[in-house]
Amino acid sequence: MKIGIFDSGIGGEAIASEIRKSFPTQDVLVANDRKNLPYGEKSQKEVILLTKSAIKPLLNAGCEVIIIACNTATALAIESLRIQYPDQKFIGIEPMIKTASQLTKSATIAVCATPGTLSSQRYRNLKKRFAKGVKIIEPDCRDWAYLIENSQLNIAEIRALVDNVCSQGADVIVLGCTHYHWIKSTIEEYAAGRAKIIEPTEAISKRLFELLES
Ligand code: DGL
Repeated sequence: MKIGIFDSGIGGEAIASEIRKSFPTQDVLVANDRKNLPYGEKSQKEVILLTKSAIKPLLNAGCEVIIIACNTATALAIESLRIQYPDQKFIGIEPMIKTASQLTKSATIAVCATPGTLSSQRYRNLKKRFAKGVKIIEPDCRDWAYLIENSQLNIAEIRALVDNVCSQGADVIVLGCTHYHWIKSTIEEYAAGRAKIIEPTEAISKRLFELLES
């Protein structure tokens, strides 16, 4: 069976390498849209158009399931994809607000994500549903996807962000952009003892398993 994975850039590779480990007998195909990256500051209309065009190779290859391994494209385009391709199975990726709200002991969490994700209606709905009474810090990470894509994000910036959110009381940091998965261990190391870092790769594997079984 073929599993398709899409992200604007290297966030998809982070998810793909984990999916390949968990599903070694499946054929994992990755599509990206590097020439239009970053998606994070584009309008919803643009993200929908670009995502639809970029996933064509995955649709044409007959992927059983397509993982939209991009929080921004999930937030802004997955509903439109589901309407246009009702028979295609999609898995989206969203910031883990629910899990973070359950884990926090300080009732304060930080969500690192693109402006597109943070300003989306889907994200607002997540907060309303799952984060009642929880303070959510949304630090400015607008250029992180681009910097990570080009190996330019420096340790000082990562540390400054961790210090900033921890000093405001956050004890859980949600990685709400798949590009940030590449710097997870750096963040974890620096935040050790202050905040737990969470991202949804494991939940995606679980959901994929369910969909392949059904
Ligand atoms: N990796 C994408 C995400 O998870 C965003 C990268 C971009 O801004 O293009 O949101």
